[in-house]
Amino acid sequence: MNLVSVIEDRKSIRGFLDRAVSRETMESILQTARWSPSGANLQPWRVEVVMGATFARLKSRLTELAGAGVPVNPDYRFHPEIWKEPFSGRRRACGFGLLNAMGVGRDDAPGRRQAWLANYAFFDAPAAMMLFMDRDLGKGAWMDMGMFLQSILLTAHAHGLGVCPQAATADYPDVVRELLGVDRQFMLLAGLAIGYPDPNAPANAWRTPRLAVAEFATFHE
Ligand SMILES: Cc1cc2nc3c(=O)[nH]c(=O)nc-3n(C[C@H](O)[C@H](O)[C@H](O)COP(=O)(O)O)c2cc1C
Repeated sequence: MNLVSVIEDRKSIRGFLDRAVSRETMESILQTARWSPSGANLQPWRVEVVMGATFARLKSRLTELAGAGVPVNPDYRFHPEIWKEPFSGRRRACGFGLLNAMGVGRDDAPGRRQAWLANYAFFDAPAAMMLFMDRDLGKGAWMDMGMFLQSILLTAHAHGLGVCPQAATADYPDVVRELLGVDRQFMLLAGLAIGYPDPNAPANAWRTPRLAVAEFATFHE
């Protein structure tokens, strides 16, 4: 697989086979991702790799909180407070595209809620990584974290794994920090559900569209 096809083929995976991911594989993903660039080589990433019994506890704790409607308390606001076009339209299309693939109708409120709650069980993935960053760093470090995240996604894909980056799993960061023994100094940016993709999972049949280059780039010649 060359790099271009890895980038173009990768997509978020939300349905996994009942097949464990080895510690060696998880470690080798990080061995590669650590070569991501970062401003002044700060390497702001801190990763908690979660599998086995600890992961089972994390899934059940987050599902319990979200299922009970406990208000979320993320370390940062992922989305804008006020939505505007074209972003609100893209967001709606993204949500409906996924629900449609899963056979959940727009008016099916309980179905939509179930689909959302599956986030907190990491879509039943066998493994996860939780991405943290020191909270005293500047905005540039967020770019570094984004690059690191993409490196994980691409490396995992090259290993035949599927990943879904999940801001939702950072909705209750205090609980995650407590369970994993992480200091409050580190903010939780997102979790990543990782496993072998289930080719028959309806959610995996869906592919998000992209803008054409001419819609987001201007060439000055
Ligand atoms: C930082 C980040 C956070 C995300 N959080 C979630 C999430 O909480 N739940 C989810 O189902 N997908 C989540 N996604 C996946 C996006 O919906 C997905 O990347 C986007 O629709 C593009 O689709 P693709 O990844 O299949 O190319 C997240 C993606 C990123 C990059």
